[in-house]
Amino acid sequence: ERARIVVIGSTMMDMISYLPRIPDTGETLLGDRFALGFGGKGANQAVMAGRLGAEVWMVACVGTDVFGDMTLDNFRAAGIDTTYVTRTSAASSGVAPIWVEAGGDNRIVVVPGANALLTEGQATSAVSSIPRVDVVVGQFEVPQAVTAAGFRAAKERGALTVLNPAPAADISPDLLSVTDWLMPNEVEFESLAGSTPTDTAITDLAARYGVKVVATLGEAGAAVADGSGRVVRITPPATTAIDTTGAGDAFVGAFSYGLAAGLSPTAAARLGCACASSSVARAGTQSSFPQAADLDAALTWARA
Ligand code: RIB
Ligand code: NA
Repeated sequence: ERARIVVIGSTMMDMISYLPRIPDTGETLLGDRFALGFGGKGANQAVMAGRLGAEVWMVACVGTDVFGDMTLDNFRAAGIDTTYVTRTSAASSGVAPIWVEAGGDNRIVVVPGANALLTEGQATSAVSSIPRVDVVVGQFEVPQAVTAAGFRAAKERGALTVLNPAPAADISPDLLSVTDWLMPNEVEFESLAGSTPTDTAITDLAARYGVKVVATLGEAGAAVADGSGRVVRITPPATTAIDTTGAGDAFVGAFSYGLAAGLSPTAAARLGCACASSSVARAGTQSSFPQAADLDAALTWARA
């Protein structure tokens, strides 16, 4: 049976400008290239899990504008179930103006719009209605109370929950109490733990929060604390980064797929590393995620 994943989270239209460098205050700079792409951490994670072969349901809210239409079409084209994607005329669809500098580093402004109007009731009824759920995934671009409601329903059904605490914010105790796996990047880790992700800091954070942790570490790969008291470090396959936007989401989507498909947490994190590493070699967000032969290579590398 296929792995079944529910993503409670955001959709954004990514409006990406590629620039030689970030302009100073008051300065106007000519950019090199512009691209409109599908993004939002939730949507990105859903698309990555779907490409690996999971059956994916998206729980989200988009506007009644053209970006909302495009977002729904994009989900359908990716084979993602949109039964639980609602629309509102009270706000615009989420947008994310993004700057990518030469070298691949990015700066992102997220304007949540409709994402902020997703409700607890929607999350609860979606997670409770879908027949058999393996993993439920959430991030911080929709209200934490909504994610907590969906995770609570997930725990009642015996599903695993994966929280990507991005963009960085404190985590409500209510949400933590129903989180199995916490997946911060380096910035988010430091904001939660007050220290860099050393082995000790990772095991301390896991113990303090009562969760398992996968810290994603950019080109340094990832560190997994699976509750055994040991921290496993994974060095990713080598690559040349041109655009790191969405790499963390490729990681979270692939890790969640791996858990749902019954891989060990280490193998699932290796799959996350391989998919993230493949994505940074290509421009854009979802458009950069691995497909076809690259997916097979990532799965083989993960299992080695
Ligand atoms: O993690 C990358 C994503 O963050 C982008 O797609 C952008 O939409 C923001 O949500
Ligand atoms: Na990319």
